[in-house]
Amino acid sequence: MTVYHLPALLNESIAGLNLKPDGVYVDVTFGGGGHSKAILDRLTTGRLIAFDQDIDSAANIINDDRLTFLNQNFRFLKNNLRYLGYNSIDGLIADLGVSFHQFDSQERGFSFRGDAQLDMRMNRNAPLRASDILRTYSEEELASIFYKYGELDNSRRLARAIVKARAGTPVVTVKDLTSAVSGHVPANQENKFYARLFQSLRIEVNGEMTALTEMLTQALQVLKQGGRLVVITYHSLEDRLVKNLIRTGNFDGKSEKDFYGNLMVPFKTINRKVIVPSDAEITMNNRARSARLRIAEKI
Ligand SMILES: C[S@@+](CC[C@H](N)C(=O)[O-])C[C@H]1O[C@@H](n2cnc3c(N)ncnc32)[C@H](O)[C@@H]1O
Repeated sequence: MTVYHLPALLNESIAGLNLKPDGVYVDVTFGGGGHSKAILDRLTTGRLIAFDQDIDSAANIINDDRLTFLNQNFRFLKNNLRYLGYNSIDGLIADLGVSFHQFDSQERGFSFRGDAQLDMRMNRNAPLRASDILRTYSEEELASIFYKYGELDNSRRLARAIVKARAGTPVVTVKDLTSAVSGHVPANQENKFYARLFQSLRIEVNGEMTALTEMLTQALQVLKQGGRLVVITYHSLEDRLVKNLIRTGNFDGKSEKDFYGNLMVPFKTINRKVIVPSDAEITMNNRARSARLRIAEKI
């Protein structure tokens, strides 16, 4: 049997929530339910509301009356909470990125290994696939995605190679894409290069940066005073947004002052230094190696 997911930084993130047994908590990235299960184990009369936009994760729903699972994008956090009758919460955990299940389901096209249609949608009812992007975006738009979301130095050359390739045959499969850009892969860095290229398309397909900023903005609004925000990120773009929000209350990271000149800080930082997996965790779960955990308390 294949594992749906192995939760990263499980003990550290659950400790970060500082759970009250009767509190109301939200897990916005349910996935295999690893973090959710650990939360439920520590609640008595408390409640857990879990989000996941991938319907496959519903197969992992835990049979527990205290859990409400929503097959929803977490960018609709506040509306869903209001609909369920919650105006405020005691803590929220987000474990961003993709599950092992999504990555390992070859037919979903998240992985550069194997050969499948370039889909990459977490929500399979969403209209845009990675292959649509490669088919319809202009050379400039493609270059911008590769640069912004993949931090690839040769983004322009990659975009040009794709536009040239698609003038012949459409770029719809993993192999179509890897062969279109094969002349631009840095020597001895194939895995890193393809991981970044695929990550950039995945972020665009799923509107990940927009969903994250919207969810974090709403989290700040719904967390009670003393409530905890716990976020695990997997690349620097996500981590920067989370760090800036925690430190300054906005995503630019620019501190703002109130009328009296006092710094307006919405959160108390619980871990000054970002928390990363131990060597023991990485040995057991190599995919956790890029995880970065930040914990903050609403002031
Ligand atoms: C790394 S996995 C979470 C694993 C989970 N913590 C566990 O212990 O199994 C990320 C999950 O978040 C979901 N996800 C990512 N972005 C989302 C969004 N904007 N809204 C809802 N779910 C999202 C993905 O579908 C995936 O199942």
